[in-house]
Amino acid sequence: MSHGVSTLGVLGAGQMGGGIAQVAAVNGLNVKVFDNFPGTIDKCKATHKKSLAKFVEKAKITQADMDAALARITYVDAPDKLTGCDWLIEAVVEDAKVKKDLLTRLSAMYPDERVVLATNTSSISITDLATAAGTTAGRVVGMHFFNPVPLMQLVEVIPGLQTTPAVIDRTISLATALGKTPLRANDRAGFISNRVLMPMINEAFYAWMEGVAEPHAIDGIMKLGCNFPMGPLTLADFIGLDTCANIMNVLADGLNNERYRPCPLLKQLVTAGRTGVKGGHGVYPYPAK
Ligand SMILES: NC(=O)c1ccc[n+]([C@@H]2O[C@H](COP(=O)([O-])OP(=O)(O)OC[C@H]3O[C@@H](n4cnc5c(N)ncnc54)[C@H](O)[C@@H]3O)[C@@H](O)[C@H]2O)c1
Repeated sequence: MSHGVSTLGVLGAGQMGGGIAQVAAVNGLNVKVFDNFPGTIDKCKATHKKSLAKFVEKAKITQADMDAALARITYVDAPDKLTGCDWLIEAVVEDAKVKKDLLTRLSAMYPDERVVLATNTSSISITDLATAAGTTAGRVVGMHFFNPVPLMQLVEVIPGLQTTPAVIDRTISLATALGKTPLRANDRAGFISNRVLMPMINEAFYAWMEGVAEPHAIDGIMKLGCNFPMGPLTLADFIGLDTCANIMNVLADGLNNERYRPCPLLKQLVTAGRTGVKGGHGVYPYPAK
């Protein structure tokens, strides 16, 4: 089945939304990106230029491809400027209330059910998020990209109980057209990727908190001993410590099990504003270049 998308609307221009917008534009879609935090849109635009220039340098795309991709992206500063999209994907903060408010607004702005409302949530129930679209819940689907989106191959496709078979097929078709490999998971908290990954990351924070080893040793042991490309604490910094803590809370609530709550040290770092690479400091410091 064809995905039938010519203009993709992306809500949230952070690490993930920015990456999704870039990949869509490189693959020939028109893209409109929106973020409600002042300055984020400019940062997103600058990241696109920098990231695409690296692809040109490595001869993965030509300068003409880069220029064409940038020309296909429109950056908007108000949600009502997101008109004319035939597929919307939200990549805002991992908070069910924020996402549901947004999905309710989007379903009112786009009453045509053929406009799919995809969510890049890492862990929140798609069935629950879909209720925010009222009678059009069948067009809500989980389309979970990985970070950094331009480099990572997987898209986890998660139907909610309400998602129609046609929307699932179109999601698989769109992910494939974006050069990704779609794999399906069912709608349980954390799906597959974060159900397996996040408790391991959380455990690494416990090991650090209990003084079992220092962060460099924890990461080094997991890298060299388990052949991981990076250690769990470094990975947490890339994901965002706030996002990791939010996901653990979703797992604890969704799986009815308190053992999934975020480690106190992880929560404390978030409270101190240490959100990881994006904030300039997480487990490790990331001085501005
Ligand atoms: N970081 C990861 O590795 C990763 C991987 C896969 C999925 N995700 C998921 O993707 C989503 C975004 O994560 P991120 O890492 O890009 O976070 P981020 O903090 O980098 O970006 C989130 C952006 O959403 C914006 N935002 C918040 N509320 C908004 C609203 N109502 N309308 C428009 N914009 C709004 C914020 O200003 C921010 O720029 C989350 O659901 C997260 O769980 C993250």
